[in-house]
Amino acid sequence: MSFTRRQFLLGAGSLLGFPMLADVLRATAAMPMPAGRMSVPQLAEPKVALVNPATLTRFVDALPIPPIARITEQRTHPRYADRMLPYYRMEMRAFQARLHRDLPPTPLWGYQGSSPGPTLEAMRGEPLLVEWVNALPTRHFLPIDHAIHGADRSKPEVRTVTHVHGARVPADSDGWPEDGYAPGHSALYHYPNAQDAATLWYHDHAMGVTRLNIYAGLFGAFHLRDPEEQALGLPSGECELPLILCDRLIAQDGQLYYPVSDDPAAPWVSECYGNATLCNGKLYPYLEVEPRRYRLRLVNVANARHFNLSLSNRKPFQQIGSDQGLLPAPVEREQIELYPAERADVVVDFADLDGQTVQLRQQSEAILQFRVRDRGRRDSSMLPSVLRAVPRIDPATAVRDRILTLGERDDTGGNAMMMMLGGRHWSAPITENPRQDSVEIWSLVNLTGDVHPIHLHLVRFQVIERRPFDLFAWNARRGLKYTGPGQAPPPHEAGWKDTVRADPGMVTRIIMRFEGEPGRYVWHCHLLEHEDNEMMRPFKLLPRA
Ligand code: C2O
Ligand code: CU
Ligand code: CU
Repeated sequence: MSFTRRQFLLGAGSLLGFPMLADVLRATAAMPMPAGRMSVPQLAEPKVALVNPATLTRFVDALPIPPIARITEQRTHPRYADRMLPYYRMEMRAFQARLHRDLPPTPLWGYQGSSPGPTLEAMRGEPLLVEWVNALPTRHFLPIDHAIHGADRSKPEVRTVTHVHGARVPADSDGWPEDGYAPGHSALYHYPNAQDAATLWYHDHAMGVTRLNIYAGLFGAFHLRDPEEQALGLPSGECELPLILCDRLIAQDGQLYYPVSDDPAAPWVSECYGNATLCNGKLYPYLEVEPRRYRLRLVNVANARHFNLSLSNRKPFQQIGSDQGLLPAPVEREQIELYPAERADVVVDFADLDGQTVQLRQQSEAILQFRVRDRGRRDSSMLPSVLRAVPRIDPATAVRDRILTLGERDDTGGNAMMMMLGGRHWSAPITENPRQDSVEIWSLVNLTGDVHPIHLHLVRFQVIERRPFDLFAWNARRGLKYTGPGQAPPPHEAGWKDTVRADPGMVTRIIMRFEGEPGRYVWHCHLLEHEDNEMMRPFKLLPRA
C-alpha cells in the first residue's frame, strides 16, 4: 500500500477538522515521495477531541507579562577571577496553567514553573551566571520518537539542556545538544554578554526532543541592553514588553496535543502546526495600554509556524530591531512576517486612540486586543530616526564561500522524511570549521519546496542576497547555476541577524565574522521537527592561526 504525501495530509486534515490546514498543505506538499519506501507514515487521528479556538470568547484574559528573573545571589566563577556576578537559579518544573478562562488547566513545563519563563535582563559587558536546573518529572508527556538519532531508549526519557538563542557564548555554556541531562541534574552556565543590545531568548535544545520540550513550554526571553540603546529614549518600563508567540493544539480536557504519525514506533511528524495562537502563553488575551508609544519585542517560538502580523487599524509598526539588535533606522511595516526563532523589535503608537481598541492579527485572525485608556500620563518616549550604524561586511574580505545544501536526502532508503544540511547527518565528521575572527560567506542552497529558517549559534550575520538557481542543473551535476540576479534583503533584514529565511528556489547568502571562543557549536533549521531529525550540524571554531 502506498500513499502520496498529499493524500496523507488531506486525510489528516479532514480528521483534525480545523482551519489552518492550508498552511500544513502548503508547507509539506512540496516534499517529494522518497524512492525505495513502501509507504509514507500517515498523520494519525487524534484519540482525543481538540478545542476549536474559534468557539472561545475572545479577549477575556489579561495578557501575562513574564516576570523579570530575580537574582538568587552573587557568586564568583573561575572564568571571571574574583568578580562577584549575579547568579540565577532557573528551575524547569511541571506546572499547570489556564491558557484561556474557559479551558481546563493545561499541564506544561516551564522555567521557574511558568511559560514563558521569567525574562532575563542584562547589560552589555556585565556577565551573569545561570544554573539551569532540571526539576522535571522523569516521564515525558509528549510522544518521543526513539527512532530519531539521539533519542534512543538508552537515553533518559526526559532530558534538557538550555541554549540562549543569539548569545555569543563560549562552547561550554552554549547548550550542546548532546549534553542533555536528566531530572535531578543541573548545569551552571556563564554568559559574558559581550555583544550589542538585542532581544535574545532561551529555550531547550536537547538532542532529538527539542521540539517536544519547547512545545511543552520550555522557553523565555532574554533582553540584553546597552547604554547607547538606552540613550535613544525608546519606550521603556511598562511600555516595553516581550510578546512571545507560538501555536498549539489543545485537547478539550486541557492537555496539549502534539500530532503523531500512524507508526507507533516512529511517531515523528515533519512539522507541527497548531490552531491556537498563544501570546505570552494565553489564548486571545487583551492588554490595557495608554495612548502612547509601546515597544513590543516580538519573538516567534513556534515549532514550525510563521506569523504574519498586522494591526486592525492598518497603522504600520515601526520596526526598530531584528534578531541581533537595532536596525540603522526604523522601518515602517504594515505586516511583519516572522519565521520560527526570528525576532522583531517594534514600536506601536496608540496616541489619539483613547477609548478605542486595536487588535493584533495573525493573518486575518485577531489574536490580541489592545484597550487604549488614557490615565493622564504624557508620553516622554522617543522614536529617533537614526538608531544604530550597521556597517556592512565587505564580501571581498571573506576567506571562504561555503556552498551548503538544505534538505538533501539520504538515498539509502532510511528515514523517509529526513532532511539534512550539506548532505550530511548530524553525526558525520565536522566539515564547517571556520577560523576565529575570519569572515566567511555561507551560500545556503535550498533544494526543497519549503522555507527553512536557518540559525547559526555564536555569530551574528548579514544577509547579502537571495539568488535564484537552477535546481535541475544542481541535481544533474551538483553545479550551482544562477538563473537571475541576486535580490538584496529588504530594509528590515538589513541589520544583524542570527536566523534567516532560506526560500525555496533560492540560494540565501549570508556573511559573518566568526568572533568568539574556539570550540564546538551548531547550526540548524529552526523548524523544530527538522532540527530534531538531522537538519542540524556541528561546526567548529578553530583558534586564529
Ligand atoms: Cu534557537 Cu540552536 O537554537
Ligand atoms: Cu541559537
Ligand atoms: Cu527545515
